[in-house]
Amino acid sequence: MKKTIENKACCIAPTPNLIVSCRDREGRNNALAVGFASNVSIEPAMVMVGIVPERFSYHMIKESGEFIINLPAKGFEKEYYYLGSKSGKDEDKFEVLHLEWTDGEKVNAPMLSACPVAIECRVTTSLQPGSHELFFASVEAVHCEEEYLDNDGNIDWAKISLL
Ligand SMILES: Cc1cc2nc3c(=O)[nH]c(=O)nc-3n(C[C@H](O)[C@H](O)[C@H](O)COP(=O)(O)O)c2cc1C
Repeated sequence: MKKTIENKACCIAPTPNLIVSCRDREGRNNALAVGFASNVSIEPAMVMVGIVPERFSYHMIKESGEFIINLPAKGFEKEYYYLGSKSGKDEDKFEVLHLEWTDGEKVNAPMLSACPVAIECRVTTSLQPGSHELFFASVEAVHCEEEYLDNDGNIDWAKISLL
């Protein structure tokens, strides 16, 4: 028999384990763990990430209107939880974790080299219905390691062990 529980928050599960990376006006890179995210449109291709305004990454995304969603694979747990618990306010997480990155091709943000999939995003609008500001963004480019592509050039999700 089902029981009604007290805690109503975060009742949709599982949430994805994503890393959102961004850059400020001074060229400083930062990244955080994000679970509030979704596909929101097929045509045009659009996604959404929810960021709490207190996060250091928030002002970067707000100012630049650009970010990259990196999908980490298994084996990246240590880095993922570090990015999700320490703040760029206090330290350069890229330096501490020795993260390798390359510049996005379409947006001004870093792509994490260790993550097999990177999605370049440009904010089109945002809404703040509650704790998180929801940034809706067009998908400007999707990059995936060649070994995870199928014969048609699409991502074969079964080949990737996502974190
Ligand atoms: C599994 C997990 C999921 C998280 N999801 C979100 C999220 O969706 N939105 C958010 O703003 N913070 C989320 N966080 C918290 C941030 O990643 C965390 O506060 C981080 O230290 C912020 O970094 P920053 O201050 O450098 O931006 C999550 C943390 C973890 C561990």
